[in-house]
Amino acid sequence: MILAGFVFASLLLSQGNAFVTRSWDESYRLANNVIAQMTLDEKLGIVIGTGQLNSARRCVGDTKAIPRLGIPSICMQDGPAGMRLVKNVTAYPTGVNAASTFSRRLMRARGVAIGEEFRAKGAHIFLGPGLDVMRNPKGGRGWESFGPDPYLNGEGAYETIVGVQSVGVQACAKHLLGNNQEHWRYGLSSNMDDRTTHEIYFYPFLRSIEADVTSVMCAYNRFNGTSSCHNENLIGPNGLMQKAGFKGYVISDWGATHDGAAENANNGLDMEQPGDNIVIGGGVFAGGLRRALSSGEVSQDRLNQMVARILAPWYHLGQDSGFPETNFDAQRRDGTGPRNLGVNVRSAAHTAINKEIVSASSVLLKNARVTNSAGQSTRGLPLTRGVAKTVAIIGQDAKMPKLDCNELGECNEGTMVVGWGSGSTLLDHVVPPVDALTAHIGNTATITTSLTMDQNNAANAARGKDVAFVFANAMSGELGFYNVVHGNMGDRNDLALWWKGGSMIERVAAVCNNTIVVIHSVGPVILNWSDHPNITAIIYAGAPGEQTGPGLVDVLYGLYNPSGRLPFSIADNEAAYGTEIVYNSLGFPDINHTEKLLLDYRNMDDKNITPRFEFGFGLSYTTFAYSGLSVSAGANGAYSLTFSLRNSGSFDGTEKPQLYLGYPASAGEPKMVLRGFEEVDVTVGQTKSVTVTLDRRGMSIWDTPSQSYVRPSGTFTVYIGASIKDIRLTGTIVV
Ligand SMILES: *[C@@H]1O[C@H](CO)[C@@H](O)[C@H](O)[C@H]1NC(C)=O
Ligand SMILES: *[C@@H]1O[C@H](CO)[C@@H](O)[C@H](O)[C@H]1NC(C)=O
Ligand SMILES: *[C@@H]1O[C@H](CO)[C@@H](O)[C@H](O)[C@H]1NC(C)=O
Ligand SMILES: *[C@@H]1O[C@H](CO)[C@@H](O)[C@H](O)[C@H]1NC(C)=O
Ligand SMILES: *[C@@H]1O[C@H](CO)[C@@H](O)[C@H](O)[C@H]1NC(C)=O
Ligand SMILES: *[C@@H]1O[C@H](CO)[C@@H](O)[C@H](O)[C@H]1NC(C)=O
Repeated sequence: MILAGFVFASLLLSQGNAFVTRSWDESYRLANNVIAQMTLDEKLGIVIGTGQLNSARRCVGDTKAIPRLGIPSICMQDGPAGMRLVKNVTAYPTGVNAASTFSRRLMRARGVAIGEEFRAKGAHIFLGPGLDVMRNPKGGRGWESFGPDPYLNGEGAYETIVGVQSVGVQACAKHLLGNNQEHWRYGLSSNMDDRTTHEIYFYPFLRSIEADVTSVMCAYNRFNGTSSCHNENLIGPNGLMQKAGFKGYVISDWGATHDGAAENANNGLDMEQPGDNIVIGGGVFAGGLRRALSSGEVSQDRLNQMVARILAPWYHLGQDSGFPETNFDAQRRDGTGPRNLGVNVRSAAHTAINKEIVSASSVLLKNARVTNSAGQSTRGLPLTRGVAKTVAIIGQDAKMPKLDCNELGECNEGTMVVGWGSGSTLLDHVVPPVDALTAHIGNTATITTSLTMDQNNAANAARGKDVAFVFANAMSGELGFYNVVHGNMGDRNDLALWWKGGSMIERVAAVCNNTIVVIHSVGPVILNWSDHPNITAIIYAGAPGEQTGPGLVDVLYGLYNPSGRLPFSIADNEAAYGTEIVYNSLGFPDINHTEKLLLDYRNMDDKNITPRFEFGFGLSYTTFAYSGLSVSAGANGAYSLTFSLRNSGSFDGTEKPQLYLGYPASAGEPKMVLRGFEEVDVTVGQTKSVTVTLDRRGMSIWDTPSQSYVRPSGTFTVYIGASIKDIRLTGTIVV
């Protein structure tokens, strides 16, 4: 399994490297040459989207073509988990599932595969990755990004962007900045101090720039009181993006622009999308940029710079030559109409990488395994096909979702594979758990199903069965022109499983002593029944995309040894997270990030709260022994941490060793922060040497007076562990 996935990923990557790119200097030279030949109208057509209400619009957003200069309409399409609104594409695992893999290899491979589908459909810009750090677990769009840890978000950002852009598709890091909740998002102000900005929320954007990202999307919300899309501190000539070396352009979130054209153009906005006023905002450039240019409020030089920033990436990634024509119509999501050419961009390789990520992002939270004399499980996991003679499959989350329902947030029916809103995809190829399980079990057992949330039916189906699989979920999504789903307006109302899923699980466990629970969720959920003695295994499967069933079956039946790790903590109550969603407000609220650096595990450590399942946790069917940590100084202030990892159990497996750093007390950092992780395949009895690198920035703090990362002096503690609470090796570094 592990090897097969590796081969696929390498194939994808080697294809990816075949695309020619030009240097930024050369790309800007080409852009400026063509700009010199453009009329004012042509320039305006590049910086202003063609309009949400324009029937000519083909993609979620596009620009006006200039045929005489060979410049096409630049097509941009959502979103972070694959192509939105389009048939014959793959519905990828979400960002938070990519984070659960703790695998840069899979994050990269996912990016490459997504990029290949965008390219083949003729979409120039992938509107992702989502980099909104999960400040509160109920935040509606948290699943689009990589969880509450900035380092993990940064690695997710880096690998996704390198992957997508390696096949000649532009990525768009979003949303700058502090877009952490859905309620009031069109005007709330995310207020935070400089150090929190740099160390938490801006950090993934810094990693995006290091990945050579070609565009960034400014957020709906205000930042420190000023609209993100004309916030000079974020996107202005001396703002955070420019200071960090950003070479590309700033696109507004759809309708996120406010105030005057000059205010936006002069403070850093390069492209307005979708172009017109869409009630919540927008239409600022369309309404006033021409006038601001003629009055001199916006200079011709600035307009030329805006156009150059948009076109240089197009040259940089070689999109000027051999890029497929746009062959879909995002206004016809049923796939009909003359502009939907029905190009099928799915492939066996993409399906395989999806299935592997489903397995690799499944987190085994509990496994009370009992075996028979043949070494097969009679309770717990992994199962052997044919041992259980009676099987129950329970819960509406096991069955086929209502197709095409997530996009508009109409429902949470059937298995939850992605949240709702613009980060969703059409789900026309989902293989639900019940189908994959039924196919795998075949005629080796009698299967009883209860695919609703009716608790009496659930208990009747489960009573006395050799094994009962119970599925439950929790969902969230984007606020917008979307419905309120089961009373949740984007953000979740609470951390409970939906449809009383927790009670249903307890009803099943009361009558079946081999209850195996599968949770599909967009983020942390209350799992306070997890110690129930009849619950022999729990898998947290996240929001895993279309290959949900097959990827899960591989884990349940031991064809894939689980190696997923929680990218957040699961506590018993919301208070443990130390942040709030503001639901009720008289007008747009100020959201003061007074918790500063203390998100998720950092807060729990600070308050001595022990979560039920901690950050970085996940079981395997085997065990790993760690030994012999040595620390050695390398070049540029970096340190190499080397240790041995032995597979001490009886299954081949993959460990995800994690590096946490403890700073000198004077640094004012949380007790422990994630600073590294590795993916190590180890066969039974094998020992491997593992090295994790800690670089100088990883040991630094953001120093406001000097506006730079500075490494404090003193004694650092390095912790190598299987999770933040399962530290196996400790060392010190004195600087
Ligand atoms: C945001 O406001 C805080 C408080 O006034 C200030 O310390 C910080 O520097 C501001 N951030 C930016 C990026 O301007
Ligand atoms: C999907 O792809 C198939 C070919 O595999 C094609 O026949 C069909 O028309 C396509 N449908 C859409 C809506 O793109
Ligand atoms: C579990 O239940 C089955 C059938 O109800 C019973 O045969 C078996 O002895 C029980 N096992 C345990 C460990 O309780
Ligand atoms: C466990 O399941 C058995 C049925 O196999 C049941 O008799 C017992 O009461 C259950 N235990 C608990 C704690 O619910
Ligand atoms: C779990 O929490 C819910 C909601 O607070 C509560 O109703 C239930 O009794 C708890 N269950 C357990 C086993 O603690
Ligand atoms: C946020 O901080 C500002 C400035 O310190 C303060 O005036 C305001 O009352 C705070 N708002 C909330 C909701 O705490």
